[in-house]
Amino acid sequence: MEVVRVEGGARLEGEVTVPGAKNSALKLMAAALLAPGGTVLHDVPDILDVTIMAELLRRLGCRVEQDAPARRVAVDVPEQVGHRADYELVRAMRASISVLGPLLARVGEVDVALPGGDAIGSRGLDLHVDGLRQLGAEVDVAHGYLVARAPRGLRGALVPLAFPSVGATENLLTAAVLAEGTTVLDNAAREPEVVDLARMLSAMGARIEGVGTSQLRVEGVARLRPVQHRVVPDRIVAGTWAYAAAAAGGDVHVRGARAEHLGLVLDKLTLAGVEVVPTGDGLRVLGPRPPRRPRAVDVATLPYPGFPTDLQPFALVLGAVSEGSAVVTENLFEARFRFVPEIARLGADVRVEGHHVLVRGRPALSGAPVEASDIRAGAALVVAGLVADGVTEVSGVQHLDRGYDAFVPQLAALGARVERVQRSPGSLPLPGPG
Ligand code: UD1
Repeated sequence: MEVVRVEGGARLEGEVTVPGAKNSALKLMAAALLAPGGTVLHDVPDILDVTIMAELLRRLGCRVEQDAPARRVAVDVPEQVGHRADYELVRAMRASISVLGPLLARVGEVDVALPGGDAIGSRGLDLHVDGLRQLGAEVDVAHGYLVARAPRGLRGALVPLAFPSVGATENLLTAAVLAEGTTVLDNAAREPEVVDLARMLSAMGARIEGVGTSQLRVEGVARLRPVQHRVVPDRIVAGTWAYAAAAAGGDVHVRGARAEHLGLVLDKLTLAGVEVVPTGDGLRVLGPRPPRRPRAVDVATLPYPGFPTDLQPFALVLGAVSEGSAVVTENLFEARFRFVPEIARLGADVRVEGHHVLVRGRPALSGAPVEASDIRAGAALVVAGLVADGVTEVSGVQHLDRGYDAFVPQLAALGARVERVQRSPGSLPLPGPG
């Protein structure tokens, strides 16, 4: 078993570079299916989820070349593509369901395994399914698969979303671009990754109006062409570095961070006493230097442009070492609070009340072995280890590898005492339900 071992107390200083966004790159790779020929993506992060998406596209008949050092992925899409996303892959990565829209539009049929249990909560697919039905698809569930058919093609329609779901907006957008007639997606998600997808689709020849707003208007076209596209920088990775610098009293130049995608996050950091200075190509983040401490700040997650749910665990870590008390509210994924007992193991004073956590700041945390339950929890526990006395060992390292490109080496280059080490798995049985 591999763990990330962190020795707390080091200050972070230096620069890091933010790669393209995981949550964009995966959808762009899936969207490549819409056009036969060679699509090339630049600034693709070298992470496990990209490797899984590449494998899924290969099984659908594409040739995929992943040049990890160059951060480039080339997808060659044949005229005839497959239509099935197996459980094995969907279980490994829920974002596999983003082939639903492109395959339905391009092939007229698609079988995608239902993701099932998910470490960050019961994320429904009802909005995806309802929307696709409004575009004329027949959608059923059989043998653990979502089975969607549109033998006579999709038809444009007015699709109001009950909630601005990122995944549903993306699947409906990628379905609508090849549908016949006009589709209006109302209450669409406005995340920068959705905008990135819309921009790539437009470059492929799609006709989309209202990009970046909550109403997307799509005129279907008969055919799309492959393109070259640069993935938008990862605002969650940028936010991770900003919170790491804030918590550890660092001075970090986060190259590639885009202030316009981090509005509320930077406001909250500034309120906490962190200095954020725009540079020509990113942001310089200066945390309060010990013995000064950050100030406690309330945070509530909401769809973009609200505070991102993916950064909520980091806000909690910062709150845990701030002066004063704060309330952190999670409005998107209830199970993100699985992380709370783990930072409590590091000595954080945290109490869960429904979808709120009351956190009372302490001067420092106290190192201990902890376990990551998802990608962001993994990174947030490593950041917590930076401000904990002694040694913290974070297990569940595979979660980090799913979403962070070279996280540990970059952290070490900033001066953190951090490394990956092998541990022999414990011989005690895991606790059972009884
Ligand atoms: C994406 C991101 C994830 C991020 C989230 C919110 C990827 C791979 N993941 O996830 O990192 O935290 O956006 O910014 O891009 N919902 C339904 N029914 C549906 C769809 C969603 O009830 O049909 C609910 C979910 O249970 C959740 C909320 O809507 O409570 C938000 O989900 P959604 O915006 O769809 O997030 P994802 O696309 O799954």
